[in-house]
Amino acid sequence: MGISGASGFQYGMKALELLRDQDIEVHLVVTKGAEVTRAMETQWQRQDITVLADEVHNVANLGASISSGSFKTLGMIIAPCSMNTLASIAHGLTSNLLTRAADVILKERRRLVLMVRETPLNLTHIKNMHLVTEMGGIIYPPVPAFYQQPQSVDDIVRHSVARALDLFELDVGGLNRWGEKHNEQ
Ligand SMILES: Cc1cc2nc3c(=O)[nH]c(=O)nc-3n(C[C@H](O)[C@H](O)[C@H](O)COP(=O)(O)O)c2cc1C
Repeated sequence: MGISGASGFQYGMKALELLRDQDIEVHLVVTKGAEVTRAMETQWQRQDITVLADEVHNVANLGASISSGSFKTLGMIIAPCSMNTLASIAHGLTSNLLTRAADVILKERRRLVLMVRETPLNLTHIKNMHLVTEMGGIIYPPVPAFYQQPQSVDDIVRHSVARALDLFELDVGGLNRWGEKHNEQ
């Protein structure tokens, strides 16, 4: 998974927390932009994040395992995904490990989920989302749903991230599914 420098570092942290209980190996790459948002938006130190991943790759290390398609992965989630990172992926620009890893996921036809975050959107943002969608990526803006009557910000973040991980067939639990008995009024 990747964390880039859009607002909402908390989405990346929540994904790491939820993935801890799954029987999968988590590789993490964090951009320099995300290091800035972490410092500005949260109280977490870098170490608080990196301990949650099985392997942490330096964003400059283009020789890392996840840089090659021969390294088997389930896919990649980028949470949150900045417009800069989205643009790089849309145009096949691979100047750091995060965008290279995403490019590899697309060429290998694996699952790529981008929790894009910006508002409002300009035409370039929208066109880049279009391009990534055409390549098979999933644009998943973390737009809150209120039908579950969230009681806290954590509820909102958890629901968005759990639904995004659902796209990898990962059932992280705690996701009240519409239509299930306990949701009926
Ligand atoms: C506090 C803060 C919030 C930001 N929020 C966003 C955002 O929501 N969306 C976005 O696309 N960029 C946002 N940015 C700008 C990106 O961090 C910047 O474009 C950066 O170059 C992204 O680099 P990266 O894609 O390598 O992480 C924000 C920057 C800061 C410092």
